[in-house]
Amino acid sequence: MSLNLDKMDFPPRGELLDFHGVGMTHYFTDNWENIQNFQARPDDILIATYPKAGTTWVSYILDLLYFGQTSPERQTSIPIYSRVPFLEISIPSLVPGTDLADKLPTSPRLIKTHFPVQFVPKSFWEQNCRIIYVARNAKDNVVSYFHFDHMAMIQPEPGDWSSYLQRFMEGKMVWGSWYDHVNGWWKKKQTYSKLHYMFYEDMIEDTGREIDKLCCFLGLSPSAEEKKQITVGVQFDNMKKNDMANYSTFPVMEFKMHSFMRKGKVGDWKNHFTVAQSEEFDEDYKKKMRDPTLQFRTEV
Ligand code: PPS
Repeated sequence: MSLNLDKMDFPPRGELLDFHGVGMTHYFTDNWENIQNFQARPDDILIATYPKAGTTWVSYILDLLYFGQTSPERQTSIPIYSRVPFLEISIPSLVPGTDLADKLPTSPRLIKTHFPVQFVPKSFWEQNCRIIYVARNAKDNVVSYFHFDHMAMIQPEPGDWSSYLQRFMEGKMVWGSWYDHVNGWWKKKQTYSKLHYMFYEDMIEDTGREIDKLCCFLGLSPSAEEKKQITVGVQFDNMKKNDMANYSTFPVMEFKMHSFMRKGKVGDWKNHFTVAQSEEFDEDYKKKMRDPTLQFRTEV
């Protein structure tokens, strides 16, 4: 990927806009026609998430599962955001995600999106591609997103924590409402069998077990040694110090005050929510999350 943006020369922060009923910024809609016409291949694997749910973690696991043995040089030379292109991104001076995905030399191609299910290009469904959806509990998700929006200089200005939390509850976020996102994809799972729905909290609880489930879904059988190597390599502390996995080379992020690999915990929300905020959030949550089959854990 040719990255020729000066790290200090950030493009202006995007403004939240209503795009077909979903909050977006123009950085993720400018290339809409090419995105919608994107030609998926049957062996493409789409990694779909609401932002900050564990996309990079699962992307890295998949990359290691598929290419860790055959192309070990990838691990030291190609950052994860180039190995797993971000379908909808379109920032001036950067190659758009669709072009990067088109040019990926790998098979399968691993492709990332934060789209709600209704925005996914139709060729992914037509080609019956495998899709991995990762979901994270709303409270930790919003905390992570809040910090991220301070460092991701193309995101709308986050403002203070309490107004940010309010906007999250109202669904006025880039990529829309968390509640609609996790529910929309959950519903899709009932009719689309090639969708593997994972939870961040399960990954934290037992990464090896979740890798086994992923392998089962993907039809992969890594050796015990390889699986062990992957499980260790993708631990938070190891990914944090791995420049090919920690986004430190990505141009539109400000790393002086913040870190992409921030905490990697379940329950960090307790350090941010006041008791009153937590109670109000829980009340509102009950009204929005009515499907008893979709349950999240806010601690493990
Ligand atoms: S993005 O920008 O939407 O692609 O971000 P995403 O990768 O989905 O989410 C980033 C959060 O995931 C945490 N993370 C991890 N947690 C535990 N273990 C590992 N290996 C790991 N890798 C990434 C990352 O730290 C962000 O969460 P927070 O809570 O902010 O730390």
